[in-house]
Amino acid sequence: MHTSSQGFEIQGVSVSELTDTFGTPLYVYDGAKIVEQVKTLQRAFSGVKHKIKYAAKALTNISILKLIRQAGAGVDVVSIFEARLALHSGYTPNEIMFTPNGVSFEEIKEGVDLGLTINIDNLPTLEKFGKEYGTKYPCGLRLNPHIMAGGNLKISTGHKHSKFGISIQQLPEILEIVKNYKLIIQSLHIHTGSEIADVDVYLMMADVLFDAAKSFPHLQSFDFGGGFKVKYKEDDKITDIARLGTELSNAFNQYCKKEKRDLELWIEPGKFIVGEAGYLITKANVVKETPTITFVGVDTGLNHLLRPMMYEAYHEIVNGSNISGEMKKYNIVGNICETDTLGADRQLHTVNEGDLIVIKNAGAYGFSMASNYNSRPRPAEVLIVDGKPKLIQQREVFEDLLRGQIL
Ligand code: LLP
Repeated sequence: MHTSSQGFEIQGVSVSELTDTFGTPLYVYDGAKIVEQVKTLQRAFSGVKHKIKYAAKALTNISILKLIRQAGAGVDVVSIFEARLALHSGYTPNEIMFTPNGVSFEEIKEGVDLGLTINIDNLPTLEKFGKEYGTKYPCGLRLNPHIMAGGNLKISTGHKHSKFGISIQQLPEILEIVKNYKLIIQSLHIHTGSEIADVDVYLMMADVLFDAAKSFPHLQSFDFGGGFKVKYKEDDKITDIARLGTELSNAFNQYCKKEKRDLELWIEPGKFIVGEAGYLITKANVVKETPTITFVGVDTGLNHLLRPMMYEAYHEIVNGSNISGEMKKYNIVGNICETDTLGADRQLHTVNEGDLIVIKNAGAYGFSMASNYNSRPRPAEVLIVDGKPKLIQQREVFEDLLRGQIL
């Protein structure tokens, strides 16, 4: 991505060319960046037997899933419908890991029927699983390690008050169920949260897993979840993936050697793989001066990118039409009927009505959390591979809003 006289470009394609063809607002993904991120992980963990399971919730379009599969990563899903999308995009059941939380036992059974690898996150479900399948279907366990980590409380999942996983303090209860039903536990899993910059958190998780592993003779893998932090702001501290790969692999290999166990190390990042590859391209509908603030009102909002309002997340915003000259301070706001700030106090090259406003790092949890709030259709999605943009999701139309409604 760079800029030229044409304005802001993504993989050599100018945003004006993209929006002339596909309209606004528009999600655009740089396929090369997605593949590069998968390769970076593969390199970082090359010293250990590993598997990457892309957390599909971050961006679930089937063309993206297919691209990630071709790059060599498996997939982690949280619902049966995500599993079905993964299957639809070419994943085989054994490449799909199912890590739901709080779902009905019916949904777990559907996962078994599809042949997925399943992580169980609570004791009642483990009990039911034992009764239903016993030795017949191996499963994994999602543990809660009582570690507080993650960018903010809403995306922290491994602390002791979190709803996720089975508390590590309940190991005796787990073992009781496993013994009663002769369950085969093939994997231990921890995901402590999203946006964890500190590599030491993963080493702490390793200690918890290695310790718990003593009680599970059938293990094939340890899963360290996702949560690797990418750069949203220039001065953001991010996860040092090379260091994470080296240090976690070393600890893991040492453990396997000491305990004479032949295991795989699994990770399941979402944001790291697709976050930076995505852009939300919008149009400035109105530039509104008030006595205190100059607002740029764009043709999108929290209905299409929830992260700023939901997590106070920072997304860099640039003027994709005007890439030189005077900078001015703006609040970039969406068109939704409540406070809907995409970025406050931002310096942009002077914005005129009709300019394309580019919101960066919108690949993860952008489209996948988009809604029809205010009865606005969701944007189209475009994937650029080898410099060629391809429509991968049609822009919704009025009929999509009516679909399923009954008068
Ligand atoms: N594995 C499990 C079990 C998860 O629950 C998650 C994310 C991941 C992996 C991937 O985490 P990641 O590598 O993407 O950080 N909507 C929020 C993030 C929610 C994350 C939920 N679980 C956001 O936009 O920041």
